[in-house]
Amino acid sequence: MIQTLHVPLKDRSYDIHIGPDAWEKLPCFLIEGEFGGRLIVVADERVYRIYGNRVREILASSGMTVSVHEVPEGERSKSFLEIENLCREMARSGLERGSLIVALGGGVVGDLAGLASSLYLRGIELIQLPTSLLAMVDSSVGGKTGINIPEGKNLVGTFHQPRAVFADTAVLKTLEERDWYSGIAEVVKIALTLDPQLFRYLEEKEDLGPSGGIDPVRVITAACSAKAEVVREDERESGQRRVLNFGHTLAHALEASLGYGILRHGEAVALGMQAALALSVDRCGLPGDQYSRAMAVVGRIRVPEVTVPTDLAGYLTRDKKSVGGRVTAVLISNIGQAGMVPLEDPGTLTEALLAAIGD
Ligand SMILES: NC(=O)c1ccc[n+]([C@@H]2O[C@H](COP(=O)([O-])OP(=O)(O)OC[C@H]3O[C@@H](n4cnc5c(N)ncnc54)[C@H](O)[C@@H]3O)[C@@H](O)[C@H]2O)c1
Repeated sequence: MIQTLHVPLKDRSYDIHIGPDAWEKLPCFLIEGEFGGRLIVVADERVYRIYGNRVREILASSGMTVSVHEVPEGERSKSFLEIENLCREMARSGLERGSLIVALGGGVVGDLAGLASSLYLRGIELIQLPTSLLAMVDSSVGGKTGINIPEGKNLVGTFHQPRAVFADTAVLKTLEERDWYSGIAEVVKIALTLDPQLFRYLEEKEDLGPSGGIDPVRVITAACSAKAEVVREDERESGQRRVLNFGHTLAHALEASLGYGILRHGEAVALGMQAALALSVDRCGLPGDQYSRAMAVVGRIRVPEVTVPTDLAGYLTRDKKSVGGRVTAVLISNIGQAGMVPLEDPGTLTEALLAAIGD
């Protein structure tokens, strides 16, 4: 059974299709969409090896000419070099204004292909075929695109909404356990900031791992509904959408300072959420019992041990939510209620992290 959610953004509105075999809906969508006959699939090498042939076949059955561009696996592909390689491949493949980019993969490919789709010929259409849990619950929806630079994570990017998202949950069976937990971290983030009902669902699961009984369609639908609502109100992240960065100020700083790819994005977010929860008690009056419940759920996300780098503060001040060099943290006052709190000293976040992970 495929669930369809709608993201209402006037002329940029689109649907998210979620469920096993959601990709089977693609040929009809492409035929009705009149995308000018040509598309390019962007995928990382691992995802293309597993799903490339099937996706090519499905897409080609619409009658469109399909090209493919593979990128190396992992965070290092979110780079200017890969943007250049992809745009040149699009030019060589004869992509025109009416053509389409298909992002097949996790958040890395989604962010890279998303950015290229907003730049090439000043913007062409994009559809997202997310294959990781993280991409299904978060990065494929909402239109944020981006790449990393040594100075900071996702510091270069655009807003460019996809024309549709097809989350085929059957593909999650080949995801590695680390990547599953990384996606669960973003589900927990949505639950803590926006959706107490989703939090209770997660709280009942002793095991948040891939065989712990979590229903992917249930959590993807809940996460995308909550995100769609926030994006509808604040597409360009000038207000309420910023709460979706809960745990992310530290996460992005950790990813950049440790070196991109050492931690999975969701692993860094899990660490960032632990620090944000501790600060939420001090700064927002998060009640102690809610703090304990929230920490118990976050603590079920498996994260490798890391030594907190000494140069975090510089990365923290370059966070996109900083104003005048002052770091702003997303904190919660109750489970499901989040807001923005300026911090006088970015070191507060680092200290909260060190205390939370007992470094
Ligand atoms: N744009 C946004 O709104 C947004 C939101 C959250 C995160 N992000 C970004 O998303 C990225 C993280 O995404 P990610 O965790 O998906 O990383 P990823 O794209 O690197 O995928 C993780 C790994 O899983 C593999 N993989 C993906 N699907 C698979 C499948 N079905 N079977 C087997 N292997 C599979 C990939 O090859 C990769 O090795 C980060 O760069 C983060 O900044 C963006």
